[in-house]
Amino acid sequence: MSDDEGERLQKVLARIGVGSRRTNEDLIAEGRVTVNGEVAILGARVVPGVDEIAVDGAVLSTLPDTVTYLLNKPRGVVTTAADTHGRPTVVDIVPAEPRVFPVGRLDLDTEGLLLLTNDGGMAHRLTHPSFGIDKEYLVHVEGIPSRAVLRTLREGVELDDGVTAPAKAATVAPGMIKITIHEGRNRQVRRMCEAVGHPVRRLVRTRIGPITDTRLEPGSFRPVEGDELLDLQRAVQPADQSG
Ligand code: URA
Repeated sequence: MSDDEGERLQKVLARIGVGSRRTNEDLIAEGRVTVNGEVAILGARVVPGVDEIAVDGAVLSTLPDTVTYLLNKPRGVVTTAADTHGRPTVVDIVPAEPRVFPVGRLDLDTEGLLLLTNDGGMAHRLTHPSFGIDKEYLVHVEGIPSRAVLRTLREGVELDDGVTAPAKAATVAPGMIKITIHEGRNRQVRRMCEAVGHPVRRLVRTRIGPITDTRLEPGSFRPVEGDELLDLQRAVQPADQSG
């Protein structure tokens, strides 16, 4: 590649939200950034979308205008790009450009954290069961689940599409449990709770992999960037590229 092709690496890292220009220069100087598998030097030039850039082994999407938002979805908002019944959608809440798509889905009545992105590769990895991304839910249920019920939720619940994979389940308060799953079946938490005799009254997603935010108001969103974006990208690396 000739010297004037591409863009400066630290500028590309800043544009995609890894950190400030200064932080990125430090990352490069510390040898934590690779381009096409080689440790990068300050001032290296890269072609976004062509050269593979990684920080701490996590490959980054460098296409221009890649954005990821974290939304606190309120009840009654549909997780689709366009609803045929004219109901409000999660996509209506975030900026129209660049166009983003929800990562996975939350039911109409489910609240809480949802990622939206135009980074198709990351969206795929976040939803693919083989990457095993944890999703944590706070669940208000009918009745008070016994220890035996919690054990069943943890070990696997028989549903009409098969037994659920091992999960985490713990009591937070009477009638309120925290469930962490890494599968993404349709209405999975509702069906699991229903199957053990404790229908869901209210369901809130509180964590997606490394991403959590207790201060984001329902109906609000914010960009995911910097260290948090790196953590997310690292969480969805294929096993042989992590660490
Ligand atoms: N499990 C459910 O039952 N509903 C959701 O929206 C998410 C997980």
